Amino acid sequence: MNSEPGKPVHIAVAGAGLIGRRHVQAVDRCDTAIVAAIVDPDLAARDFAASIGCDWYASIDDMLDASPPDGVIIATPNQMHVDNGLACVRAGVPVLVEKPIADNSASAAQLVDEAAGLNVPVLVGHHRRHNPLIDAARQQIESGSIGDIVAVHAACWLYKPDAYFDVAWRTRQGAGPVFINLIHDIDLLRYLVGDVVSVQAAESAHTRKHDVEDTAAIIVGFANGALGTITVSDSIVAPWSWELTAAENPAYPKTGETCYFIGGTRGSLEIPKGKVWSQDGERSWWQPIDQTVYDADSRDPLDAQIEHFRQVIAGAEQPIVSGLEGLKSLKVIEAIKASARDGKRIDLEQHGFK
Ligand SMILES: NC(=O)c1ccc[n+]([C@@H]2O[C@H](COP(=O)([O-])OP(=O)(O)OC[C@H]3O[C@@H](n4cnc5c(N)ncnc54)[C@H](O)[C@@H]3O)[C@@H](O)[C@H]2O)c1
Repeated sequence: MNSEPGKPVHIAVAGAGLIGRRHVQAVDRCDTAIVAAIVDPDLAARDFAASIGCDWYASIDDMLDASPPDGVIIATPNQMHVDNGLACVRAGVPVLVEKPIADNSASAAQLVDEAAGLNVPVLVGHHRRHNPLIDAARQQIESGSIGDIVAVHAACWLYKPDAYFDVAWRTRQGAGPVFINLIHDIDLLRYLVGDVVSVQAAESAHTRKHDVEDTAAIIVGFANGALGTITVSDSIVAPWSWELTAAENPAYPKTGETCYFIGGTRGSLEIPKGKVWSQDGERSWWQPIDQTVYDADSRDPLDAQIEHFRQVIAGAEQPIVSGLEGLKSLKVIEAIKASARDGKRIDLEQHGFK
């Protein structure tokens, strides 16, 4: 069901947990969208739905039978994304699926293929692409101000408080900062630099000694020939991560630092600081380097993502992060895990991660 441009769209949120409730607030802030229903078997979710005055259903199927909305945000645990997503697209309802699109790429591909066959949009909640800081960085790169990208360095260094690991699944395989955090950075780097063609990774559980990694280091090869180094850790007290530098979620105190360095033949970019380092005259390490800072608007990317979802539902825009894009980012993460496990460099195409 496609809503007419200009008319408010009715959006249901499945999974009223941590991020689901932030989506509800974002829909609520959007003038052109209405929270149609909450879908979540938990009784606390039923009370939450009553408190905001919307319908409540225990399952997606119950909601689709009773009253299909214009769009559904799926913010359930990863293992349920595909089943819930398939139920929606089979009913012709566009979905915004939280990241990762699925807990494995085979089932993610099923959702992507079926949705494409039915011509129903699937979006994936890599919301950072909707941050104006990223739009501004992309414009800088596309303007040619740093020339051809040669290398990238990215840090996702965080310290998760010890109590975070009291929840058992967070210490086991399937969790860990590669799956939970790095997938966001990989998605952004793919958006800014281009497709990833190879990875070589090492993981360590040395600091926390859980079953799952606390730290990983990855060498990334991009399709345009650029190389990247990325490190991720949940055990470092540091100011350099998207979470602590971009200030998009008030839960994280802003450090004002940078987490991505993008280096090109004509200059370099610090993101999210918005600083460009370049040389006007002769390019040489013996010449001074100029620094300028470009402006970027400030907007909650969850709000921008809802506005975009509304436009996709209305048929006015194509998904910025389509199901296929979410699948590609997930495949890079799977390749990183495989590389760390086998101690090998992985060419994504050759090893079936493309
Ligand atoms: N974009 C981001 O930055 C971001 C941040 C956090 C979480 N996430 C993603 O969002 C998803 C949810 O994470 P969370 O931290 O909010 O989890 P959560 O555990 O806080 O919430 C999940 C909710 O889903 C409900 N649920 C379980 N089974 C359901 C079903 N079959 N139908 C409907 N609801 C069901 C649970 O009762 C719970 O309320 C995960 O995929 C996670 O990776 C994304």
